[in-house]
Amino acid sequence: MSAILTIADLKDLARRRVPKMFFDYADSGAWTESTYRANEEDFGKIKFRQRVLVDMSNRSLESTMIGEKVAMPVALAPTGMTGMQHADGEMLAAQAAEEFGVPFTLSTMSICSIEDVASVTKKPFWFQLYVLRDKDFVLGLIDRAKAAQCSALVLTLDLQILGQRHKDVRNGLSAPPRMTLANVIDMAIRPRWCLGMAGTPRRTFRNIVGHAKGVGDVASLASWTTEQFDQHLSWKDVAWIKERWGGKLILKGILDKEDALMAAKTGADAIVVSNHGGRQLDGASSSIMALEEIADAVGDSIEVHMDGGIRSGQDVLKALCLGAKGTYIGRPFLYGLGALGKEGVTKALEIIRKEMDITLALCGKRLATDMGKDQLRR
Ligand SMILES: Cc1cc2nc3c(=O)[nH]c(=O)nc-3n(C[C@H](O)[C@H](O)[C@H](O)COP(=O)(O)O)c2cc1C
Repeated sequence: MSAILTIADLKDLARRRVPKMFFDYADSGAWTESTYRANEEDFGKIKFRQRVLVDMSNRSLESTMIGEKVAMPVALAPTGMTGMQHADGEMLAAQAAEEFGVPFTLSTMSICSIEDVASVTKKPFWFQLYVLRDKDFVLGLIDRAKAAQCSALVLTLDLQILGQRHKDVRNGLSAPPRMTLANVIDMAIRPRWCLGMAGTPRRTFRNIVGHAKGVGDVASLASWTTEQFDQHLSWKDVAWIKERWGGKLILKGILDKEDALMAAKTGADAIVVSNHGGRQLDGASSSIMALEEIADAVGDSIEVHMDGGIRSGQDVLKALCLGAKGTYIGRPFLYGLGALGKEGVTKALEIIRKEMDITLALCGKRLATDMGKDQLRR
């Protein structure tokens, strides 16, 4: 563990330990991957102001996201098939987040179900909803999230149609993986992963199988999923979802200020400035470049979060400077999970915390919540 100092170190280890199909699923973006790359690269264009001889003792990274106290404003983003990076991945990541004091968001497309995660956590987690055409299934999901005492619903808006990731098509991605010769060889050289998978019953989409009409097994699941994303979804749908849910609502996938202003009018509690980690509209702006304009446009009318490309604590602070009250990490925690299971997720959070803390001090600040535009050199 001592040689692991950065998120990139966790990524290298995950590449060795996770079957190629699932590692590639995490490390990929739509089409040319230009937005995926820009998400990371654009953080590098932003520079801090270095300040000296200010008292930097008693620092704190604590903050709140939608009124919930967080040890640092970094939630785990909803990611599909997390239980394929490591056996029981969602359950382990949720436990790591709970122990660290940051929110965990469970995806609709998870391997472990809402009930699985609730059974191993004590504090409420957040649930991410995809609105699918089968409305009975969607209503059921909302009710299951309520029953599991989830404290926020994260409604994803940027996936009414699936962007294409070439790697997934070429790899024949599926959960569980098909037993082709190439897949069997690829898994056989990763015994830790295989052992974990052999020891868990959780190997397919457990929020869906057995809950959606006509989806009783993996064979029926594939065709069901592809036809389920709802191209008719509109702003009107946010109202009935909000009403049915009745709790805190976060709208995820906003990249344009006009949409942000519409989102603020819905009465939701927060928006996430996001391009789905560069997995949907290739050629869209990086999230960090879209953030400032959106935060300025909505002002105090709605809380602003962001995700996409965060690979260090410095990136988190840059997002805070440009108007985000909270951030999310996707791949950084997935790499941690693939590399070292629960311990790896904790390690990813620890790396980010340390980088945030030292950067905060060298910028001459004590509180992460004090970071603003004037801490950036422009
Ligand atoms: C492997 C993977 C699966 C994802 N699945 C979902 C999902 O099921 N629902 C969702 O709203 N976002 C999903 N996302 C997007 C993330 O929630 C988040 O927006 C993105 O990962 C942030 O970028 P980052 O990975 O660079 O931190 C996924 C991202 C990845 C990498």
